[in-house]
Amino acid sequence: MATFEPVLSRNWNVPDARTLKVYESRGGYQAARKALTTMDPDAVVAVVKDSELRGRGGAGFPCGLKWTFLPKGRTETLMCVNGDESEPATFNNRYLMELDPHMFLEGILISCFATRAATAYVYLRYEYINAYKILETAIAEARAAGHLGKNVYGTGFDLDVWLHRGAGAYICGEETGLIESLEGKRAWPRIKPPFFPAVDGAFHKPTVVNNIETLCCVPHVIERGADWFKSIGVPKSYGPKLYTVSGHVEKQVCVELPMGVTTRELIDVHGGGVWKGRKAKAAVPGGISMGLLTADEFDVPLDFESIRKTGCLGLGTAAVTVLDDQTSIVDYLHNTCRFFSHESCGQCTPCREGTNWFDRTIRRFKRGGGRIEDLDVMLHMAENMGIIPGTTICGLADGAAWPIKNAIAKFRGELEDYIKTHQTPGAGPTKLQRDIIAGQVVDLAAIRNAVPAPPPPAAALHSPGRPPA
Ligand SMILES: Cc1cc2nc3c(=O)[nH]c(=O)nc-3n(C[C@H](O)[C@H](O)[C@H](O)COP(=O)(O)O)c2cc1C
Ligand code: SF4
Repeated sequence: MATFEPVLSRNWNVPDARTLKVYESRGGYQAARKALTTMDPDAVVAVVKDSELRGRGGAGFPCGLKWTFLPKGRTETLMCVNGDESEPATFNNRYLMELDPHMFLEGILISCFATRAATAYVYLRYEYINAYKILETAIAEARAAGHLGKNVYGTGFDLDVWLHRGAGAYICGEETGLIESLEGKRAWPRIKPPFFPAVDGAFHKPTVVNNIETLCCVPHVIERGADWFKSIGVPKSYGPKLYTVSGHVEKQVCVELPMGVTTRELIDVHGGGVWKGRKAKAAVPGGISMGLLTADEFDVPLDFESIRKTGCLGLGTAAVTVLDDQTSIVDYLHNTCRFFSHESCGQCTPCREGTNWFDRTIRRFKRGGGRIEDLDVMLHMAENMGIIPGTTICGLADGAAWPIKNAIAKFRGELEDYIKTHQTPGAGPTKLQRDIIAGQVVDLAAIRNAVPAPPPPAAALHSPGRPPA
């Protein structure tokens, strides 16, 4: 392969690269001019389709193919750009927005032209206040210079870009949850079918939902062509990719590399090695919902296909988080389970109840009340929740299940040792919980009708040291 030339991050170290002047002086908006003034929208879609650019938001769905799902003869299209970026340890979208906002806007402009969308909403996670301010300035600059607004480059194409800040929930990143939230509602994912965004999306109009990094690849595909894009990476996973490395490494970085780099290279070369001279025990390959790689699996390429062979859910956001050899897998599961239990939107019973039950079970492990058979029950539950077994509306439940499946499959010995060596009398499950876990018939009516315990005396209701109100 020829020497790799970064394109997504090419302006990151250039002074004032955020400004339109500097961006244009480095060839910025030339790809947009080329697309809008010399190509028709279908030709742009065709090039993106030929490039086999796959979505960078997590699922890896082919971008150009997604655009072809929009109904022919539609009168209006909306573009929703997914900037929720709530997957733990993921920060590549933030870098793109904060360090090169005009490249991002150029990606939106070309993609909206290709899909005939005259309105783009950028859905930003609430915490990204810097990105919000930077984008606000960049949009104003682009509008004043005629890259956005009415009749862009005199082609008759109009485009408005609106920033929309979320309220800080992981589920707002799921595309239909995002659409609900954009409409001002609670971010409850919609059932697909019938609500496929391409046909019935935001405000019930045909809608494209794409990730920020996906759209940032588009200007480069138009500028350099589909063959250039496919000359980078590995089969079925083409192009440049931003990987983030964090956790127990010497340097936390976001680095652009050809798709298919290994975890080992990311840790040793780009992350400066495992911190404090320790060894790695495991790594999360692409956000916690993807599962876990053992240190023996660090040479597997991080691309859309290879990573699945390790039993992980997928490449996800390519956010690698390293766990050193002193990290307890129980602590890893504790963090993971409480995250998903907190973030489940609650619509689907397996996800709402399952994530909460996982969380409570791991807390019981930590209190000293774990039982070896809990691991099999957890595995059974994890195998039966999510879109893949077909029991939930969205993929959050799969993301909650995968870390458990992987941890038990890959670190069962450590988990069993933990349970055996952390036993506290009385900390195990109650008889009722044991009966439920064992699948016994439980007389719920008897429990409900049981005489409630008398209320505590009034003084006990106040915390010690605080006088009664
Ligand atoms: C629970 C959940 C959270 C998600 N969060 C994000 C997110 O923060 N950003 C993102 O781009 N995609 C996220 N996705 C994926 C989106 O649903 C969607 O597939 C993606 O935005 C499509 O863009 P792409 O095709 O360009 O990758 C999430 C999916 C799920 C199930
Ligand atoms: S899977 Fe979980 S997060 Fe997704 S819709 Fe169902 S309850 Fe909500």
